[in-house]
Amino acid sequence: MAKSTASAGAAQSGSHAAGEATGQRPRVALVTGANRGIGFEIARQLARRGLRVLLGSRTLTKGRAASRLLAEEGLAAEPVRLDVTDPAQIKSLARELRAAGGLDVLINNAGVLLDPRGGRFLDVRLATCERTLATNLYGPLLLLQAMLPLMIERGYGRVVNMSSELGQLEEMGSGTPAYRISKTALNALTRIVASDTRGTGVLVNSMCPGWVRTEMGGPEAPRTVAQGADTAVWLATLPGDGPSGGFFRDRKRIAW
Ligand SMILES: NC(=O)c1ccc[n+]([C@@H]2O[C@H](COP(=O)([O-])OP(=O)(O)OC[C@H]3O[C@@H](n4cnc5c(N)ncnc54)[C@H](OP(=O)(O)O)[C@@H]3O)[C@@H](O)[C@H]2O)c1
Repeated sequence: MAKSTASAGAAQSGSHAAGEATGQRPRVALVTGANRGIGFEIARQLARRGLRVLLGSRTLTKGRAASRLLAEEGLAAEPVRLDVTDPAQIKSLARELRAAGGLDVLINNAGVLLDPRGGRFLDVRLATCERTLATNLYGPLLLLQAMLPLMIERGYGRVVNMSSELGQLEEMGSGTPAYRISKTALNALTRIVASDTRGTGVLVNSMCPGWVRTEMGGPEAPRTVAQGADTAVWLATLPGDGPSGGFFRDRKRIAW
């Protein structure tokens, strides 16, 4: 990956922001897949709250373009090249962040829906499952393995795993099997990591944004990106006595 010196600078510098500072520096948040859609809106809302936002993007060109859009609104977000399916990029970013002072918030937002429209289980290809899991499950898993130590060392962390109601076991039905399986597994990851981090100051939660108008959600979706991002921002800025190991939509617990 290109050296993400911007991200390192983000963690080192900056003025205090009311309510979101650690004492020495503002909280640092990494949002994956933030060049568009719900991730972009999460980046915008976190920047508005005074966090130092690292805007993860598969290509720096897209990341810089997204960052420029926020700059036009007077908001700062540093583009970071991050393909969540690339373990080397993840490790390299974690090293840079460690050197620069750490990471406080991780939003595992990047996601793909690769099942064909109306795709049924009997037709699903193994390659579709593998590519879906690589982004939606193994990406968050590798990011958590790389970033959690930084959070635990500082005694503070907020992790948001962007899941979906399509991953809810209670509501499980047919269609988009690869995507459903990936989000159910992501929810399992949330529970495992929340259990492993109990008492460390790190809070780990899953959420569903609802059906949101993005490239993935399509133009018929009823929700705006602002509505889809709201719960993520709330979970990213929970107080120390906030929940961990939960599944939320609209700031309320939902069934697994
Ligand atoms: N929209 C909905 O109705 C809805 C509902 C439930 C859950 N969700 C979840 O919400 C999250 C965001 O969805 P969205 O609607 O905003 O989707 P979107 O508009 O399709 O955006 C997806 C984002 O993820 C990025 N991405 C994909 N693969 C990546 C990878 N390997 N590494 C890094 N970034 C990658 C994309 O980057 P590129 O631009 O490079 O492709 C893009 O920035 C996803 O996890 C999705 O499953 C969405």
